[in-house]
Amino acid sequence: MKEKAKKIRFLSILILLAAVIVLLVFVITKSKKPVTLAEEEPTKKLILGFSQIGSESAWRTRNTQSIFDAAAENDIQIIIHDAQQKQENQLKAIRSFIVYQVDVIAFVPIVEDGWENVLTEAKEAGIPVIVVDRQINADPSLYAGFLGENGVEEGRRAARFLQNKCRDKTDTVTIFEISGTENSSIVKDRARGFREIIDTDPKFKIIHTENGDFLRSRGKEICDVLLASNVRENGNTTNTLYYDGQKIDVVFSNNDSMTLGFLDSLESHKVTAKGTIFISIDAEQESIDALKSGKLNCVVECNPNLGPTLMELVKQIAEGKPIPFMTFNEETVFTENDDFSLYEPRGY
Ligand code: AHR
Repeated sequence: MKEKAKKIRFLSILILLAAVIVLLVFVITKSKKPVTLAEEEPTKKLILGFSQIGSESAWRTRNTQSIFDAAAENDIQIIIHDAQQKQENQLKAIRSFIVYQVDVIAFVPIVEDGWENVLTEAKEAGIPVIVVDRQINADPSLYAGFLGENGVEEGRRAARFLQNKCRDKTDTVTIFEISGTENSSIVKDRARGFREIIDTDPKFKIIHTENGDFLRSRGKEICDVLLASNVRENGNTTNTLYYDGQKIDVVFSNNDSMTLGFLDSLESHKVTAKGTIFISIDAEQESIDALKSGKLNCVVECNPNLGPTLMELVKQIAEGKPIPFMTFNEETVFTENDDFSLYEPRGY
């Protein structure tokens, strides 16, 4: 009888001990961090609808890749649409993002005007919009902010190089300008910045501006036409460039693709154009190589790597935080006077 009572007491102590351990484990795990229902559910990925204008240049290809890579790194689902250089395609894409109810819309506006209606629709649908790379002419209340380059400053940088390069010249300095997509903010801004500086000295004279659509093929075509009228009677092409009978001292091109196309044409016609000053914008590896080999004199950087900052802005918006209205990417200038050994590979 005594033995039986002992056994029962021993078993009761064991059960009590087990109960205390279970209770302790429960209290410890509970006190670490309260588990809410929301946390148990898989977190919903942010969805970004991005309308790109196309792939007219190596710069643009790098720009798209940077945005695509950064979205993956930040676990943001991205829907990229290629507008093939048409605003109407961009408007359709943005409207489809609204129907799809993406969290944020970003787009590179091919031209400056014509966005108010679609931006109003996005605003009414409660979808914030970030304007990327180029700027727009629209009521600022219709979009969250802009991320991209400072086109006016890029134009100024090109002009400052020229100003310095020609500081000892007293004769007229004639400039042949190759611009890009008509009515795009970037072309207007670069032209404004460039003129702001050169207009301070009457010796600088823009003798012609031609639209090369930011395309390498157009840069080549433009030079081909120039050279066709520069053929001497003996059949050789002159090494000096002329436009409408006027000697060209400077070729200022709004992007590397057009500049490289221009150089392609010079090469195929075996024209060195040694006395001409060449200034380009973008800083693709190929144009940096041309700078190193003396074919170009100055390359103003336009930084295409907008992806990481764009994703930061998207995340801030999604968290309900305000974003700066204007975010400019950092940029520099590469010139013939640099120590080329310090250059890092461009990556595009
Ligand atoms: O908007 C940026 C410009 O567009 C770049 O200079 C050019 O290469 C691109 O096509």
